[in-house]
Amino acid sequence: MIIAQITDLHIEAAGHRPAHGFDVNASLAAVLRRLESHTPRPDMILATGDLTAHGDDSEYDALAALLNSVDIPMYIMPGNHDDRDGMRKAFPGHTYLPKGDYLHYVIDEFPLRIIALDTLAPGLVDGTMCPARCDWLTARLAEAPSRPTVIAMHHPPADIGIGWLHSGNFAGRDEISEIPLIKIQPRNIRANNYSKLFVLYRRPNQAATVYNTY
Ligand SMILES: [Fe+2]
Repeated sequence: MIIAQITDLHIEAAGHRPAHGFDVNASLAAVLRRLESHTPRPDMILATGDLTAHGDDSEYDALAALLNSVDIPMYIMPGNHDDRDGMRKAFPGHTYLPKGDYLHYVIDEFPLRIIALDTLAPGLVDGTMCPARCDWLTARLAEAPSRPTVIAMHHPPADIGIGWLHSGNFAGRDEISEIPLIKIQPRNIRANNYSKLFVLYRRPNQAATVYNTY
């Protein structure tokens, strides 16, 4: 199974002057074309948050135009730059996005089970896991203890060696590590300043280990 993970797209409204002289919209378009022509073809694309620059509707419209042009199963998650209702509105075809307070969900149709965890707290840069989200995650993990599982999240649940991305302000970080079947042990982490996906990978019936991708 091949997961193509894209993150921190920070897409801007169509026609917006590129911030810092870098056209992120054109960059994403090029990445998507590359993924479509990649051999072997990715089984899915997972966009792990900060999809837009400011969470504005016009930015989500531009994002939808880009992502909907790709013929690969696409899943989107929120980061601190995102707006949950804006995502729901711009992606009505993404029926896995739940109604309610959070945008977390399970992708169950692949050999690897993926739990997409919503760590967004509106107005905050840092991640948050409240008791309700810990309960939700606990229940999802209990559903399939024997399946290999990735928990994908936008914010780091452990320190990963990047100074500006320390996890100390992640509200609920300690609560995550108290969830049965999770034991956060940073391992095999090779960080650089562009690292930005944080996953907990759980082998069947073993504790989860946190990794970041880069
Ligand atoms: Fe970002």
